[in-house]
Amino acid sequence: MGEKDNRNQGTAYHWYPGHMTKAVRMMQENVKLIDLIIELTDARVPMSSRNPDIDKLGAGKARIVLLNKSDLADPVCNGQWTTYLKDRGSYVLEVNSKTGAGVKAINGLVQEACKEKLERNRKRGIINRPVRAMVVGIPNVGKSTFINAFAGKACTKTGNKPGVTKGKQWIRLNKSLELLDTPGILWPKFEDTQVGMRLALIGSMNDDAIILDELACDLLLFLQEFYPESIRERYGVGWRDTLAETLETIARSRGCLARGDSLDLKKASNILLDDFRSGRLGKITLERPQ
Ligand code: G4P
Repeated sequence: MGEKDNRNQGTAYHWYPGHMTKAVRMMQENVKLIDLIIELTDARVPMSSRNPDIDKLGAGKARIVLLNKSDLADPVCNGQWTTYLKDRGSYVLEVNSKTGAGVKAINGLVQEACKEKLERNRKRGIINRPVRAMVVGIPNVGKSTFINAFAGKACTKTGNKPGVTKGKQWIRLNKSLELLDTPGILWPKFEDTQVGMRLALIGSMNDDAIILDELACDLLLFLQEFYPESIRERYGVGWRDTLAETLETIARSRGCLARGDSLDLKKASNILLDDFRSGRLGKITLERPQ
């Protein structure tokens, strides 16, 4: 770990976008209008892909946490994270927004999550008011894909509502649920280099901002500990004395050559990262509940 810690002291994962305030302000405005927050996380990094500000922004609102891209994550870890997050008061579902798997079950969960509010409304004689929800998540977590899968083509946009800032649209999913069509974009927080590294691994950071072979070695270090068979299964090679040598072996096995017959480690790193991101290295979760 020492070698890795030293490497991470550099600038590799210290990227921070300038939109933070605007995104948070947008959410602060909208949160008053909604009953429920649907928070998307990436099932491969359920902690690192959450923005802790959401707890403050969404205080007092019902919350459903979706483990999206659950098809790419380790099924055992999906179960562990579901239990962990449920134990901490959220409603949780594993979903695959790309295929729509798990998405239908959200309707039932929405009713359950907003049970108290719906009951209060009923007592006040308000019976036909749909639950209003906002979808939030960090960039690339799958918000647009999820909204498409959840709302589908059948959804109709309702007109502006009183008290809603001009231009805001609600997507009516059915008679009991409306989604605010502007997804809340939360930027990830990664003062912690481990969080930054995990977000870089899932591809939530522009690869131009990172040093590819360092990131590839970070991935190898993790795989060696938690998924030691993955490298042999994918590339037919074993672990070498160091991570750098293992990366070289992968480069050789994939014919990644640069000029003068030297190895093209950047190309090999890209192959490794791409194989991980697309699930070709297997179903892998990068963090465990603690
Ligand atoms: P965003 O709005 O939160 O920024 O994310 P977006 O929906 O654009 O999704 C980002 C990428 O994640 C897309 O891949 C999308 O297909 C993929 N994705 C979303 N949900 C899931 C899921 O549950 N499982 C899997 N495996 N992938 C998911 P892309 O490569 O950018 O586009 P595409 O080539 O898939 O169209």
